[in-house]
Amino acid sequence: MKASVLLLVAAALCVAAVSGQSHPLSDLPAPLEGVETVFWLPEYPEKQFPAGALVEAVVGLHNNANERLNITAIMGSLNNAQAFHQYYQNFTYQPQQAFVGPGEEAAVSYYFAPDESFPPREFQVALTVFYNTPSGTYSSTFFNQTIDIVEVPSFIDIQGLFLLLPLLGLLAGAAYLVKSALERYGILKPKKGTRKVEVKKRVVAAGEENEWLKGTNFNQGGAKKVAKAKAPVKVEGSAAALEGTPAVVKKTK
Ligand SMILES: *[C@@H]1O[C@H](CO)[C@@H](O)[C@H](O)[C@H]1NC(C)=O
Ligand SMILES: *[C@@H]1O[C@H](CO)[C@@H](O)[C@H](O)[C@H]1NC(C)=O
Ligand SMILES: *[C@@H]1O[C@H](CO)[C@@H](O)[C@H](O)[C@H]1NC(C)=O
Repeated sequence: MKASVLLLVAAALCVAAVSGQSHPLSDLPAPLEGVETVFWLPEYPEKQFPAGALVEAVVGLHNNANERLNITAIMGSLNNAQAFHQYYQNFTYQPQQAFVGPGEEAAVSYYFAPDESFPPREFQVALTVFYNTPSGTYSSTFFNQTIDIVEVPSFIDIQGLFLLLPLLGLLAGAAYLVKSALERYGILKPKKGTRKVEVKKRVVAAGEENEWLKGTNFNQGGAKKVAKAKAPVKVEGSAAALEGTPAVVKKTK
């Protein structure tokens, strides 16, 4: 009888010890007087975290106490912004090894990742640093504020990309048209063939131009040149005129 009672008491103590260990945020020790903290969120100064992103929080400790601080761990949680007692996520308990002598300062980083499943809205995040001194065990909550979970930027980027795709297709099509047109002019560039053949080709090319340049200045110029090109002497003038045409011919060079 006595033995089983003892066993039960022992078991209860074990459970208490284990649950005490797994919930370091339940009964936070008080801060040590004279210890001041500041924080930075280097990558997210606006406190807007994409769900699933790894967030670095830096805590700076200034030790105005007379004892050396032994920084042992940092832990945090993500809670309901309106009802803090509702814990949505406990971030990992990360052991630390740092000492801060009296009058000294130190900075330590903590990394946490709000779960990917959180919807974009307001939450509260609390981050606490644990430390001890010869006189006891303490903790300081260096961050306890509302934050915004925001949509993951890469998702927005992908959406934007899909919107851009048709536009890119159009641009590619236009580029292809210009390229093939330029290639045609490239073939027309004075070769070492006979002038007559050259002129003939030019007339054909000018006819093609007319089809897709109808109503443009280029079309008029082209037509004029076709007529003049029939006289072999004017061929060079014709080429010059084509080169003088702004948009298209510039790109041949
Ligand atoms: C998170 O920590 C709080 C406070 O210590 C505790 O009440 C809660 O049970 C923990 N939640 C989980 C899922 O461990
Ligand atoms: C610092 O704290 C840790 C954890 O409590 C302990 O193991 C270690 O001995 C301490 N170091 C010093 C120098 O007090
Ligand atoms: C954080 O602030 C809330 C009030 O907004 C408070 O209820 C809670 O105890 C604080 N948490 C810590 C760890 O200091």
